Amino acid sequence: MPLDWQEFYSASARVMTRSLIRELLKLTRRGGIISFAGGLPDPATFPVEEIKAIATRLLDREANLVLQYGPTEGDARLRDELVKWMAKDGIHASRDQVLVTLGSQQGLDLVGRVFLDPGDHVIVELPTYMAALQVFRSYRVEMLGVPQDGSGMRMDLLEETLARLARDGRRPKFIYVGPDFQNPSGATMSDDRRTRLLDLAQQYGTLVVEDNPYRELCFEGAPPPPLAALDREGRVIYLSTFSKTLCPGLRIAWMAASEEFIRQFVTAKQGMDLCCPALTQAIAAEFCAAGHIYHRVGAIVERYRRKRDTMLAALSREMPPGVTWTHPHGGLFLWVRLPEGMDTERMLPLAVEEGVAYVVGSGFHADGGGRNAMRLNFSFPSEAEIEEGVRRLGRIVKKHLPATARTK
Ligand SMILES: Cc1ncc(COP(=O)(O)O)c(C=O)c1O
Repeated sequence: MPLDWQEFYSASARVMTRSLIRELLKLTRRGGIISFAGGLPDPATFPVEEIKAIATRLLDREANLVLQYGPTEGDARLRDELVKWMAKDGIHASRDQVLVTLGSQQGLDLVGRVFLDPGDHVIVELPTYMAALQVFRSYRVEMLGVPQDGSGMRMDLLEETLARLARDGRRPKFIYVGPDFQNPSGATMSDDRRTRLLDLAQQYGTLVVEDNPYRELCFEGAPPPPLAALDREGRVIYLSTFSKTLCPGLRIAWMAASEEFIRQFVTAKQGMDLCCPALTQAIAAEFCAAGHIYHRVGAIVERYRRKRDTMLAALSREMPPGVTWTHPHGGLFLWVRLPEGMDTERMLPLAVEEGVAYVVGSGFHADGGGRNAMRLNFSFPSEAEIEEGVRRLGRIVKKHLPATARTK
């Protein structure tokens, strides 16, 4: 009798889903495909020479430290630098309120490990970050989506959701939001909604998880203060990362929260990886201490703003009437909506055949919606690729329009 290997899997492993984006990224490594799918930074922004010089210096002078295990909380020098980095945004944390994580993705898993039991409720935006859904799902929770508009999560609908849960004697463990240039919509939460969100969290006795990797990548004006800067009660768990401002390969990110919560995250992290790599933390600490991190954001923003503008102009030229898209003021993504009834999932194989890839909207929806939407990334492809890729996409959408209309 052949063995059913799946019998060995835990209930959590059985509900895990593979990341559509990660799977798609493999596909788009094939030559000739222009990928708007991943959330990859432009490699031209990687500070190769600075990292090389810092790594050489560290290995020459303190190899005994940087090749050794380190504390689970993270390198103390790096945590001090992160305290300074957050202070410029009005987040006043002490070193003991900061935990270095292996990417923000680990931070999301720590949030899951520490707060979630099967059957718990979590509130997310519609749409929201796909890999957060993937993590929270693995803890077998029920996710409730609250729609957003151009100003972020709709607070009237959040209140309705919280009130409905309260009537059933339930409260969500936390509300997960990306307030700045959100992945995937590109929307930024307005000032008054941020205050309202914290008021509602207090009123209904829940926490807020603020996932904020894109704040620095601001093309116009400045976003309102982070939720963590407005929080007076220790209700916000703040996640940020150097993946988009330095490079993702170092996997340097962090969480800032009350000392109480950080202690619990540290305990959970001990069982995961003991500590983040000492070498990459030391590189990041030196990179910050030398001021590089502060000086480089302007050039990245300039590059990505141009790419966003190229994509917006190409969409205007190539897309048929009835297609709409967001105009993000920062970040890496914009969100495209095709006419109701069109299906970006069914269209994707045709798009890949035509040499262009995107991520389907449904992957970002906790409620199975978003089938007529797609997320486009503009940071990774060159401007010429953006123009050609949108031309290909426009062709497919136009071809698909009448066919879909017929099947409606
Ligand atoms: C909203 C959001 N959270 C978390 C992450 C994970 O980032 P990291 O590279 O720090 O793991 C990403 C990466 O794209 C993201 O978009």
